[in-house]
Amino acid sequence: MPTLTITAPSATYPVIIEDFLHNDRAFITAKSKALVVSNPKIAGLYLHKILPKIRAQEVFVCIVPDGEEHKNMQSIEQILQCAFANRLDRKSLMIALGGGVISDMVGFASGIFEREISYVSIPTTLLAQVDASVGGKCGINNAYGKNLVGLFHQPSAVYIDKEFLRTLPAREIRAGLAEVVKVLVCFDKLGFEALESSQDDMLDPSVLLPFIQKSIAIKARVVEQDERESGIRAALNYGHTFAHIIEMQTHYKRFLHGQAVAIGMTMANDLALRLGLLQETQAKRIERVLRRLGLDEAYPISDIEAFYQAFFLDKKSHNNTLCFVLPKGIGDFTLRDDIPKDQILATLAHFSLESMRI
Ligand SMILES: NC(=O)c1ccc[n+]([C@@H]2O[C@H](COP(=O)([O-])OP(=O)(O)OC[C@H]3O[C@@H](n4cnc5c(N)ncnc54)[C@H](O)[C@@H]3O)[C@@H](O)[C@H]2O)c1
Ligand SMILES: [Zn+2]
Repeated sequence: MPTLTITAPSATYPVIIEDFLHNDRAFITAKSKALVVSNPKIAGLYLHKILPKIRAQEVFVCIVPDGEEHKNMQSIEQILQCAFANRLDRKSLMIALGGGVISDMVGFASGIFEREISYVSIPTTLLAQVDASVGGKCGINNAYGKNLVGLFHQPSAVYIDKEFLRTLPAREIRAGLAEVVKVLVCFDKLGFEALESSQDDMLDPSVLLPFIQKSIAIKARVVEQDERESGIRAALNYGHTFAHIIEMQTHYKRFLHGQAVAIGMTMANDLALRLGLLQETQAKRIERVLRRLGLDEAYPISDIEAFYQAFFLDKKSHNNTLCFVLPKGIGDFTLRDDIPKDQILATLAHFSLESMRI
């Protein structure tokens, strides 16, 4: 099984894609102490399998509450408290055992503990394996919005094991698949075609594995070129400009992030169609793949103007200009900040409550 090496300007580290849980020779070694951070659900399932694999002077465990609503400063305080109380030092290691919520928080907490210590990530959701655990963006939420407080802190290693996905609910797997579709549409025509023509059960971890590898390899290449998201990394926001508003308007409750991204990609495709960047047949192919993956939820927009205005609240809109990542055919993309308002409104109208009633 491959080990991908990520060579970002600030750090070089391996993403080890292999059997970790059942491999007797796989260990994580800390130079001093280790602090494993997880939540009750994941710890209940996997902590007993992970603890024997950690080689450290002492190993401590910090259990934070489960859920996006706990990706906040209070949980960071809890992790720091665990680290100080157990006298971790600058050579100690934090270990994230969990989904994107855990890896984001551990990246952040280890980035500020005594000004920075190392962390490794063991992502246990598909979304965290293909997206959140790689690339070093670590953010937490506050009353003003999602991921508004954080930093860039690359892990020192990432361990990907598909076996974690066997206990992950189907809805979570589907949500992770939206991020896979995202990178394939933007970067990998052949990968998209492989997904499109596959007759296999995409919820099966063994079927997913090659797509996990492809997605990580693409993200690795993107992060290497643009660690701090000043250019090409923005492509990873395909569908997200719309999704963030859908998530906000539904109070982060109705859809999982990936489900909202799938709706957002369909909206971005409509805009790309209007601008002549995508052909009708290509948009239909993407839609068909999303539908087959169970990512065909609808979000009828009730107030077009309010949705449009919400774009300007996104932290990625600068100086009142809106920037959209749009597919250019399949396997390529473009960033556009010059789209006339009437075109954007036409797309929103296409997804409005009124037009969906017709
Ligand atoms: N840093 C980045 O680049 C980046 C990229 C994408 C997303 N994110 C962040 O990731 C977060 C979403 O991550 P997520 O989708 O992994 O959600 P999550 O971490 O909340 O996990 C989803 C649910 O699955 C449970 N779970 C995790 N692994 C399991 C397993 N193996 N078996 C059974 N249950 C399991 C969790 O306890 C949780 O209830 C968001 O906060 C998002 O902002 C960050
Ligand atoms: Zn996303």
